[in-house]
Amino acid sequence: MPVVVEPESQAGPEAELEARFQAVIDRKDRIEPRDWMPDAYRRTLVRQVAQHAHSEIIGMQPEGGWIGRAPSLRRKAILLAKVQDEAGHGLYLYSAAETLGVSRQELTEALISGRQKYSSIFNYPTLSYADMGTIGWLVDGAAICNQVPLCRTSFGPYGRAMIRICKEESFHQRQGYELLTTMMRGTDEQRAMVQESVDRFWWPSLMMFGPPDDESPNTAQSMAWGVKTHTNDELRQRFVDMSVPQAKALGVTLPDPDLVWNEERGAHDFGQPDWAEFWEVVKGNGPCNAQRVAHRKKAWDDGAWVREAALAFAAHDGGTGGAAEDADDTTGKATT
Ligand SMILES: [Fe+2]
Ligand SMILES: [Fe+2]
Repeated sequence: MPVVVEPESQAGPEAELEARFQAVIDRKDRIEPRDWMPDAYRRTLVRQVAQHAHSEIIGMQPEGGWIGRAPSLRRKAILLAKVQDEAGHGLYLYSAAETLGVSRQELTEALISGRQKYSSIFNYPTLSYADMGTIGWLVDGAAICNQVPLCRTSFGPYGRAMIRICKEESFHQRQGYELLTTMMRGTDEQRAMVQESVDRFWWPSLMMFGPPDDESPNTAQSMAWGVKTHTNDELRQRFVDMSVPQAKALGVTLPDPDLVWNEERGAHDFGQPDWAEFWEVVKGNGPCNAQRVAHRKKAWDDGAWVREAALAFAAHDGGTGGAAEDADDTTGKATT
C-alpha cells in the first residue's frame, strides 16, 4: 500500500513518512516498490542488490570455463545446469533492482566501468576440476549463510527473489559436496587435488562475509533498516561451525592452525583471513579482476545487436511483443 502524505502533521510530511516507514520495518513487514522510502535506503538497496546480481553473473565465469572440460557427460550436465541457475539468479536480482528505479543497462554499465562491485571470491582462478566441487561446497555454502537471512530482508522484491534463489543454492552446495566425496573415494592423486583446492578456497570463502564488524561502517544502519539481519562476523562464525564437521566427513583438512572448538563459547575459534589481500582484491587488484570484467564487457558489447533488434521489433509491432498477432490467428485465441 502506498503511504499517503498528511499535510497537517505537525512533525512535517518528511518526518511523518519516515516514522511510518520505520514502523513497517519494526513490525518486520515488507517495504514495497511504490511505498515511500528514504533516499539513503533506496541507494543502499540499489548498491546491495546490484552487487548481488553482478556476483551471480560474474560468478558464472570461473565455473563456465570448465563445462567443456568436464570429465563425463553426467558432470557436464550438472555443471551446465548449475551455471545456468546462476544466470537465472542474476536476472531475478536485476529485476528486483529495476523496481527501485534503475535499469539493467545502467547497472551493467556500472559493473563494466568498475563503479559497482561483485563478490571478491570470483576474482580467484579455478585451476582444477576439484574447484568445481569446492566452489559448490564452500562458495555456495557461504552464499547460503549470507542469503538465508536475506529471505526476511525488509525490501519485498529482494526478499522474495532470495527465497527462490536459496532453494537452488542448496542444490549447488550438495552437488559440490557430492563431487568432492566422489573424488575422495578415488585415487591418491584425486584426494590431493581436493585438498589443494580446499587450501586455496578456504580463506577467500571466509572473506565472502565482508570485513570484520568493527571495520564495517554500514552494518548498523543496514540492520536498523532490516536490510541486513546479522553482522558479518556472526555469519562467518556460522559458516565455520557448519563447515568443520563437513570437512571431517569428507576427510580434508581446513588450512587454519588456529581452528579449534571452544567449549565455553559453544563455537569454533578460528584465524583471520589476510584482510590486506581482501582489500587489494576489492580495489581491483585480485588475480582475475581485469579478466572477469573484460569478459563481461565483451559479452555485453557482442550482445548489442540483439538488444537493438529486440527494440526494433518492439517498435515495429507496437510493443505488443507479437501478442496482437497471436490473438488474430485462425482460432481467434491467444496461443499461450
Ligand atoms: Fe546463485
Ligand atoms: Fe549457486
